[in-house]
Amino acid sequence: MLVRLNVNGEWREAEAWPGASLLSMLRDDLGLWGSKNGCEQGECGSCSVWFDRELVCACLVLAAQADGRHVETVESLAAAGSLHPVQRAFLDAGAVQCGFCTPGLEVAVADLLQRDPDPTEETIREALSGNLCRCTGYQKILDAVHLAADRMEQGTP
Ligand code: FES
Ligand code: FES
Repeated sequence: MLVRLNVNGEWREAEAWPGASLLSMLRDDLGLWGSKNGCEQGECGSCSVWFDRELVCACLVLAAQADGRHVETVESLAAAGSLHPVQRAFLDAGAVQCGFCTPGLEVAVADLLQRDPDPTEETIREALSGNLCRCTGYQKILDAVHLAADRMEQGTP
């Protein structure tokens, strides 16, 4: 079926077979490779995107469900040509190793900080509980969230 959706502010079209996921359509048909396929079962969070402004795992959404809807991917974070404060904080805090989990985590952190600009440690851990990282041990990711929150509060990049 032909699916027409708004991705990162632009209306796009792609042919999708009935069982295709939004994740596979983003990556295989629309050339948006930022969202990663870590498990395809909703377990790892590496495919996190906004679906009509709600954080979802793109592997659990059918491509057909995206018809007429709005999707924002990790690529939208740096749409203005410079890194989003969350992305900058991940780099500066050393929260990126292999980087496979990073796009999903950055989307989840950006989502959290939109809702709660000054989250507690407990709130951060709860918000990121669906995002798995095999490399960092998570402390540097938590450091990155605090760094991003501080910088966004102060209006610094
Ligand atoms: S690939 Fe979607 S949650 Fe792991
Ligand atoms: S940096 Fe490798 S999985 Fe998180």
